[in-house]
Amino acid sequence: MNPRDDSPGEDPNSGGHSRSWHPDTVAVRTSVPRTAYGEHSEALFLSSSFVQQDAGSAAARFAGDEPGFIYSRFSNPSVAAMENRLAALEGAQAALATASGMGAITLLMLGLLQAGDHVVCSRSVFGSTIKLIGDVFGKFGVETSFVSQTEVQEWKTAMRPGRTRLLFAETPSNPLTEVCDIAALAALAHEGGALLVVDNCFCSPALQRPLEFGADIVMHSGTKFLDGQGRTLAGALCGTRELIEGRLLPVQRSAGISLSPFNAWVVHKGMETLALRVQAQSARALELALWLQQQPAVARVHYPGLVSHPQHALAMKQQSGQGGAVLSFDLVADSPEQARERAFALIDATRLCSITANFGDTRTTITHPASTSHGRLSEAQRQAAGIGQGLIRIGVGLEHPTDLQADLAPGLRVAGD
Ligand SMILES: Cc1ncc(COP(=O)(O)O)c(C=O)c1O
Repeated sequence: MNPRDDSPGEDPNSGGHSRSWHPDTVAVRTSVPRTAYGEHSEALFLSSSFVQQDAGSAAARFAGDEPGFIYSRFSNPSVAAMENRLAALEGAQAALATASGMGAITLLMLGLLQAGDHVVCSRSVFGSTIKLIGDVFGKFGVETSFVSQTEVQEWKTAMRPGRTRLLFAETPSNPLTEVCDIAALAALAHEGGALLVVDNCFCSPALQRPLEFGADIVMHSGTKFLDGQGRTLAGALCGTRELIEGRLLPVQRSAGISLSPFNAWVVHKGMETLALRVQAQSARALELALWLQQQPAVARVHYPGLVSHPQHALAMKQQSGQGGAVLSFDLVADSPEQARERAFALIDATRLCSITANFGDTRTTITHPASTSHGRLSEAQRQAAGIGQGLIRIGVGLEHPTDLQADLAPGLRVAGD
């Protein structure tokens, strides 16, 4: 090991980072030990398996009696580097990477639930999350109640004594940016003997650390801000060692929803610039939200950084004083048909924004949630989630705000006619 290794690791629970470092330092310095070559940029370990010293040590590693890498479905140095960095940024004891954000939710459900268990989930979460938790796991006897993102009382009423194991929230929500009270939901979960899971995709640990507000598990789609440049799919779960290594890792070893070392390496490098990107993108999003609010064709802007947002004060408390880099807005229209027509015309009139379903990229993305990310939901589910035909979501990137405004202006003029 290099004597000036970047991972001091004096605290065995720190994921290899020094607790005294500022998050900016943690983001660039938390890693795995350097190899004998002394590489400065972390090596990429594209190896499906690892050679063991002898049969005895292979047996000891397989039995978990000896640390060390065995097979990349279980663990891999590049994946471990990404996991350590993310755990450090979230303030978690441990993190476990998965092939995608949806893979993380699949692992969560497989690892912590069984038939007969019950989940309470916000009805404002990502469309595929609703499908996976409600429909797919419903087939295996896990029941889910979908409730208001913001009304804590609804969560309380939905809980079933002795059966509710998980509360699942995403804050701010996709695409309406509704903010839930993490501390209140954590208290409720713990009162009922359940765990609170928070999807932290929209903020990333650069703005919000749900574990500090009492959440038990943070879930990520690393596809979003953690990579930050639209290159890879990735996911992760962060929490205590007991939950991550004790309960979820054994399931991951069999289920194989593992992250590729290459994608882990990309996300690991992406996290070095996470805070800078997210803060700059949030500042641009606020500027764009303020401008959109003034456009006659816009009925309402959904952005937690706006004083008019219903949970603005809560968002400022939970999200380090920033609104995040995703916003959405409803167009003025007389009917759902007209709203959809106007939304499509506005999207098609843009030249700079990318018409693509992702967000968290350095390049701004624009989508029509009702026909894309939430297109597989029933009309009733969409209405319950408040996703109308005139809703447009923008994942703000690093372009200059004046260029973004110039790109949206022609479409807004048409929609306002
Ligand atoms: C809030 C949120 N959670 C989870 C996911 C799923 O992540 P992935 O696409 O990496 O599976 C997405 C994807 O868009 C998302 O927006």
